[in-house]
Amino acid sequence: MSYTTKKIIAGNWKMNMKKSDGLNLIKSIKEASKAIDESKTEFIICPPFTLIDAASEELKGTNIGVGGQDCHTQTSGAYTGNISADMLKDLGAKFVILGHSERREYEKETSEYIAQKAETAIKAGLIPIICVGENLQEREAGLELKVISEQFDKSIPTNEATADNIIIAYEPVWAIGTGKIPTLEDIEKIHNLIQEKSQERFKTKDINILYGGSVKPTNAKDILSLKNVSGALIGGASLKSEDFIAIAKASEEE
Ligand code: 13P
Repeated sequence: MSYTTKKIIAGNWKMNMKKSDGLNLIKSIKEASKAIDESKTEFIICPPFTLIDAASEELKGTNIGVGGQDCHTQTSGAYTGNISADMLKDLGAKFVILGHSERREYEKETSEYIAQKAETAIKAGLIPIICVGENLQEREAGLELKVISEQFDKSIPTNEATADNIIIAYEPVWAIGTGKIPTLEDIEKIHNLIQEKSQERFKTKDINILYGGSVKPTNAKDILSLKNVSGALIGGASLKSEDFIAIAKASEEE
């Protein structure tokens, strides 16, 4: 069984939102989400670390879960500047994004390192949202299937992970923040590949796979109605409550 059968609408706020603007956005998403059928949709908000505590407090008792955007491989210790999975859990987080392409690129995180983080996160009781995705060069060279396959093999821990305690997010790097998206056929092809990999690894194709990269209210319905797309991981459009909720509305229509 996958983690959930509901559509997952997840927002990655990245390094945005100071305290008061962030709190306002959380409150406004909480209010607007009442228009969405709880039995069909699960919301996740991943604000920066500075807002995790406040978000968890504000969203208690709602169907909006809170997630971090990263965590360390270790649970505690002399790792200046880092945050552990245990700490996120302690503040009420249920999820953590790991291996986002921005961390792979700017923080030089490798798939092996991401797998260690994911193992620690699962042990702490968090659901890691493990990101995979090819960059433009790889796509232009026709290497996307190979890249995704390798990232899947190496970024998902061989210990601890099951089909129901992780979520995969396919985020083509060239589609992030650019307004460009792959064709629907291409999205389907990659999501099928991830299902096949899941079948090999976990003996089930039943795993949650999100699509991320320039998801907007205007393209959400087409993307979210693809059979093997379990939800969306949204960057820019998750910073406006109208857009974030409009994407969830679109997924209800499919
Ligand atoms: P955009 O939705 O802004 O393209 O960002 C996607 C993303 O990186 C989510 O993790």
